[in-house]
Amino acid sequence: MASPLASQWVLITGASSGFGAAAAIAFAREGAKLLLGARRVDKLKAVARSARAAGAPEAKFQPLDVASTASVNAFVEWARTVTKRVDILINNAGGAHGLDPVAAGKDADIVVFDPKRKFTITQKKLHQNVDYTPWEGFEMTGMPEIVYSRGKRVAEWSGDQMKFVGEVGRGRFVKREPLSAY
Ligand SMILES: NC(=O)c1ccc[n+]([C@@H]2O[C@H](COP(=O)([O-])OP(=O)(O)OC[C@H]3O[C@@H](n4cnc5c(N)ncnc54)[C@H](OP(=O)(O)O)[C@@H]3O)[C@@H](O)[C@H]2O)c1
Repeated sequence: MASPLASQWVLITGASSGFGAAAAIAFAREGAKLLLGARRVDKLKAVARSARAAGAPEAKFQPLDVASTASVNAFVEWARTVTKRVDILINNAGGAHGLDPVAAGKDADIVVFDPKRKFTITQKKLHQNVDYTPWEGFEMTGMPEIVYSRGKRVAEWSGDQMKFVGEVGRGRFVKREPLSAY
């Protein structure tokens, strides 16, 4: 049976290495079509080639620097010339700054996000130590569905409220040096 991802357009930023490149190959194996962006075009080219070999009917790439609005706009314009619709967006560009690689067997922080879920903000539903929110009664569209921290589920829905179901104190602060620009 064909995968439900077959022929879906998947746009991946930060697709030249690590998580993004691995995602490209995983989607390619399902027969998805790929739009890949990152700064290192030689790496993107190699990922696109591997993706086509893995089963992607199309794997296109374009330079992208998410720190530059002009580059982001140019990338979006290019994507529009390829497809009118993007089915899945993986906005992964970034860097772990050498703190911790994404790798099999490691604990991950993951949010599964439902872009259609409605949520009305009230102070009682928030997890904070203040008794007021300026957003009282504000209706939002799009909320996390499940949240994992260090590989364990820490938040899930209970009725119309997201509950903390993790273990207090299990979180870890990962210290790093400031970026050189600061
Ligand atoms: N959830 C977790 O548990 C967890 C754990 C570790 C890391 N992460 C996050 O997952 C992401 C990927 O991590 P990774 O280990 O796969 O890192 P990685 O191998 O360094 O990959 C980072 C990707 O982002 C791209 N990138 C960096 N700056 C960019 C920019 N300005 N514009 C466009 N693309 C840019 C890089 O491509 P170019 O250099 O070619 O532009 C590269 O493709 C990072 O955001 C990291 O913080 C999450």
